[in-house]
Formats: sequence, structure tokens, C-alpha cells
Amino acid sequence: MYDFKIAAVDTATMYRDLASALQGLVAGEPDAIANMANAAALIYETLPDVNWVGFYRNIGDELVLGPFQGRPACIRMTFDQGVCGAAAKTERVQRVEDVNAFPSHIACDAASASEIVVPLIRDGELLGVLDIDSPTRARFTQEDEAGVVKLGQILSRVL
Ligand code: SME
Repeated sequence: MYDFKIAAVDTATMYRDLASALQGLVAGEPDAIANMANAAALIYETLPDVNWVGFYRNIGDELVLGPFQGRPACIRMTFDQGVCGAAAKTERVQRVEDVNAFPSHIACDAASASEIVVPLIRDGELLGVLDIDSPTRARFTQEDEAGVVKLGQILSRVL
């Protein structure tokens, strides 16, 4: 049984424990789908106040839905669509305080109010993006961004 219940006293400690749990979960496993599935479950279980955690994979310059936790989501996006598309196109983290103010945002769950999307890059190649949504406006801080970027770095090595 995997028991990764993380009860940290502060955000920095929580992300440190989360990164260490994620590293342990994916260590030695070469299957990208298994690693994305476990990562989505671990992050969804651990982060407070999130309603969707998952992956879009870069397949032929199109973003295709990967393993996730949350409500069923849109399956394909171009790099010109959505917050995920912007992260893929610019290869930069997108931290959006109010998704309704983001022109091309795609609402998969009407409850989503803010989100953070981290591009996953290995050896200069865009593998996909990690997308985390919250029902709370401006849920993700600079500290969350630093923590999620570290998770992305761990994942980029095993996808
Ligand atoms: N919010 C995303 C679409 C995917 S769902 O949130 C799962 C976006 O606009 O990129």
C-alpha cells in the first residue's frame, strides 16, 4: 500500500514533502502513463482547494488529454487554445488568477476559477503540460509556482 498522506505545517514544507513523495513514486518506473496517473492522484490528494489535476501531452503539436483527477475534460487543444495552449506555445508557466478573464480559456468545469499550468520540457523538447485548477480565485501564489515547477522537473525526467 502506498500511504503518502502529507500533513505539512506550511506550504514550503508541503511542496518539499510532495516532491519527495513524487520522486519515490516514479523512481525506477519507465512507463509514462503510470507515472502521470500516480502523479495526478498524489497531487490531487495533497494540494488543498484544487478541483482538477492532470496532464496534456504534446502529440504532433497538439495537446491531448492524459491521466488526470477531476471531472471529465476537453480532449484536444491546439497551442492557440486555453491556458494549457499558452503554456505550450510560450514554454512558460501560466499562473492565471481569474480564468474567466483569460481570453482563450477553455472551461471544462464551470467551478474552476484559477489555474496554474507548467510546461514539461526535457532536452529542449516539450513533452506536455501539467495543469492544476482551483475553484478559488487567485488560489496559486508564487510559492505554489515554485513548488509546482519542481514537481514538473521531477516529472519531465520520467515521461
Ligand atoms: N483550463 C484549461 C482546459 C483544460 S481543463 O481545465 C481540464 C485551459 O484553458 O487550458
